Amino acid sequence: MGYGKGGLYDPSRYYCTLHSGKRVKIMAEPKHLSEISWNDFKKLSLAEKGCFFHGKHTLIAQQFTRDELDALCALATRIKRINKRRDGANFLKGLLRDKRAMLYFAQPSSRTYLSHNAACQILGLDTMDVRDTKTSSEVKGETPEDTIRTFSSYVDMIIMRHPVGGFAERVAWMMSHTKREIPILNAGSGADQHPTQALLDIYTLQRSFEKIGGIDGKHVAFVGDLARGRTVRSLAWMLTLFKDMTLYFIAPESLQIGQDILDLLDEAGTKYVVSEDFAAVMPVADAIYMTRIQDEWDVEGESSTTNAADYHIGAEHMDIIKDTTVILHPLPRRQEISTEIDNDPRAVYWRQMRNGMWIRAALILKTFGRDDEVNTYYDDYKPVS
Ligand code: NCD
Repeated sequence: MGYGKGGLYDPSRYYCTLHSGKRVKIMAEPKHLSEISWNDFKKLSLAEKGCFFHGKHTLIAQQFTRDELDALCALATRIKRINKRRDGANFLKGLLRDKRAMLYFAQPSSRTYLSHNAACQILGLDTMDVRDTKTSSEVKGETPEDTIRTFSSYVDMIIMRHPVGGFAERVAWMMSHTKREIPILNAGSGADQHPTQALLDIYTLQRSFEKIGGIDGKHVAFVGDLARGRTVRSLAWMLTLFKDMTLYFIAPESLQIGQDILDLLDEAGTKYVVSEDFAAVMPVADAIYMTRIQDEWDVEGESSTTNAADYHIGAEHMDIIKDTTVILHPLPRRQEISTEIDNDPRAVYWRQMRNGMWIRAALILKTFGRDDEVNTYYDDYKPVS
């Protein structure tokens, strides 16, 4: 087992240093992407990049602050409650009726695609989609950059999933140099980032721990393919925004979490344990985040030596884990979670999936700057809780 440095929650990491040497607070002084060349932009740290996306694009987990996470979770709950009544649902549907969104999914997706689409429908946005690049002019040799620029002529937001890590950032940078810079939401890029999944995971943890002190101080175990699981990479960082966390990375050596993430945790002062021993961690974990083996990324058969049974949870483990522990999974699952535990109240992955719709609705509304209208409406409203 290896141990991280640990240490105290340090709010100073919300500041970043620009090339000029100037330190800026991410919240107070967002920068515009058109101010920087692509080559200089690529050299920035993730926290520095976050300054340039803030309030416009959602591209990386590192662009969020704790206050923003709390506000988005609260907004998601308000939207969910307002939507329960017909007059409330009609109010929500009117909010973004003047907007259109493009769902550009160049990689397979069920939940992320559907929940973004449903979130748009809740807020009244019309959507269009390209789910297979073979049906767009990319087959005629058009570059992905030109393809995206074409979409931007017809819509007010692009929600995109792409196999190339960093491509969404490139698109956002490119758009900032055009007259029609519209928000880009990264719905999964390569094996690298999945910020909106991390948001829904945070929302699920926050709701699960509402009555037991919130997320602060909890022990969260990540299990399975942590090397290629982009959801884990984004969520692990987001959890550094909470106090006194302990993260456990449980995986075979060939699929263990990247050193880049461990370095970020060290920098943030978040405690972590790197181990192969799932059984030892089960009784102490407050949340267990299972993942599937992502063999589609195999280059040298990295998955083939893995004994899947070592990274599995089933009925035989339910007496070992605590009564308050929650089991999450970004889904799709294979054999890592037995269906026999699906109805255990601690298995929250189906609820987690539905939470994705509410938090994405909150994010889209916030991106268009219309969140205050929901907050005002909610205060005068008799919601169904
Ligand atoms: C994940 C993804 O696509 O990264 N699923 C999701 O978005 N809910 C996880 C996976 O594919 O294993």
